[in-house]
Amino acid sequence: MDIVIENLTKRYGNQKAVDNISLIVATGEILGFLGPNGAGKTTTMKIITSFIAADEGKVYIGGKLLTDNYYELKKHIGYLSENNPLYHDMPVIDFLNFCAKIQGIEKSRIPDRVAEMIRITGLKREKHKKIGELSKGYQQRVGLAQAIIHDPEILLLDEPTSGLDPNQIAEIRKLIRELGNEKTVILSTHILPEVEATCDRILIINNGKIVADGTAESLRNQSKGSDILKVKIEDGEPDQIYKSIQALRSVSMVELADRNFNRFDIHCTDKNVKREIFRLCVENKWVLTEMTPFETKLEDIFRDLTMN
Ligand SMILES: Nc1ncnc2c1ncn2[C@@H]1O[C@H](COP(=O)(O)OP(=O)(O)OP(=O)(O)O)[C@@H](O)[C@H]1O
Ligand SMILES: [Mg+2]
Repeated sequence: MDIVIENLTKRYGNQKAVDNISLIVATGEILGFLGPNGAGKTTTMKIITSFIAADEGKVYIGGKLLTDNYYELKKHIGYLSENNPLYHDMPVIDFLNFCAKIQGIEKSRIPDRVAEMIRITGLKREKHKKIGELSKGYQQRVGLAQAIIHDPEILLLDEPTSGLDPNQIAEIRKLIRELGNEKTVILSTHILPEVEATCDRILIINNGKIVADGTAESLRNQSKGSDILKVKIEDGEPDQIYKSIQALRSVSMVELADRNFNRFDIHCTDKNVKREIFRLCVENKWVLTEMTPFETKLEDIFRDLTMN
């Protein structure tokens, strides 16, 4: 099921929390939603889940208009909301049984499905505790379990890995990637490496507007910064190496990063630069001991687009 969003706007007083957003998320796509605090990520997700209504614009899920087909469509939507509201007095297992029931899962299938959720979110040891007694990370896992228990085709995850420990983050990312093979996923996060690790596509919003849309690679290509290659070249005289690199066709600028260790930062204009450097070293009998691409960081692109 795909998601089609047309000219969505949501106002709070004079402020447009979401400002004329249009967007298509294809079936099987994992879209990473980025933006600074207050950008409108949660508001957009709440509209897609029908949690709140938009002032203008339309959302279609699997070709059907959300506002006219809510009861039919809601069983295909899984939602982990930002503040993850849970019943604190309920034991984990009872809560998941309850969720399975209200999501309309057939009674005979509920025990297996709940067991499966407990397994994949790593809640085995905690399953008999009351939710209010769980640590923050475990509560987040319960939130994830309830979002996917009915095997929805659309998953909206608002900061799914917030509060999780590094082991669990890795597991949840893997889980999201697996789910994303068939499902349509939108996830918001403030962890930039997370979008690269998990998402097929990145959408950056700022002040309710889309300011970038594409793969991490395409965003890098659009950004102003040139790629930097870090190299270490031994057995040569730094100034001579410096001059020779500077003369290469694909090099726009060289910086001598560390004279004592013959380290150079090379700003390059095309990918051919690696071959040119390698050949140069061979010709001069220099020894190339390190060559690391130092790409424009997603952080820099993000800051560029959202600092205003
Ligand atoms: N119920 C509300 N009443 C008034 N303003 C609201 C309401 N909900 C959201 N807003 C405003 O809408 C804007 C967008 O908020 P939203 O929660 O969508 O941001 P976000 O991108 O999810 O940010 P964060 O990264 O902090 O979670 C904010 O300026 C917020 O104050
Ligand atoms: Mg939010």
